[in-house]
Amino acid sequence: MANVAVNANANGSGITRREFLYYIWGASMALYTAQAAGLLVWYLIPRFREGEFGGTFTLPVELLPEVNGQPYNYPDGRFWLVNLDTTNAQGEERMWKSEDESNDIKGVAAIYKVCTHLGCIYAWTPSNNRFECPCHGSKYRLDGRRIESPAPRSLDRFKLEALAEDKSTVLAEAVLEGDFYSPIELPANTRFVRVDTGEKKKGPSLTLLCDFSGSCP
Ligand code: FES
Repeated sequence: MANVAVNANANGSGITRREFLYYIWGASMALYTAQAAGLLVWYLIPRFREGEFGGTFTLPVELLPEVNGQPYNYPDGRFWLVNLDTTNAQGEERMWKSEDESNDIKGVAAIYKVCTHLGCIYAWTPSNNRFECPCHGSKYRLDGRRIESPAPRSLDRFKLEALAEDKSTVLAEAVLEGDFYSPIELPANTRFVRVDTGEKKKGPSLTLLCDFSGSCP
């Protein structure tokens, strides 16, 4: 039957053998191109595993700092964990409520370790109870809000979730306030927190805290 179809051109209908081979070759090239494009897309789409920056990190709650305590440094994930409560006098030299903040700040947050000015790695300075950037002197409160510039905004935060014992049941997650993650108050049965370093929100550009005390340099 195929010979009939291929040879039928002799009567003015069907296709020649040459045309038939040409179509086969064209279809093969199209298939090859589609496969190559698919492989390229697969290669370019970032894939992160648990425990790799860009992916998620699941940590036991025992690692969390005490309320308003020194932040917990987690180098692999490039974040700090902080535990905030402006209603608690403990550690108020590190975390306090500013006069332009109408609500108390309470809960746990994961803060990106890169300065919002030009990208230096800042550090926690225990003697001054704040984060300080060695490059150009930006300062931040325990929750990442700017105290002194030149940083253009507060520190960025990652999405954080509270997990139950099975590490998969999500008990609470950071909600967006504007376009920024609020700290989350952990439910009593929280056993782990999961930080998603692929979900980062930029810190807001609030008034410098030093402006309120009139102590800006
Ligand atoms: S990079 Fe941190 S103050 Fe400039």
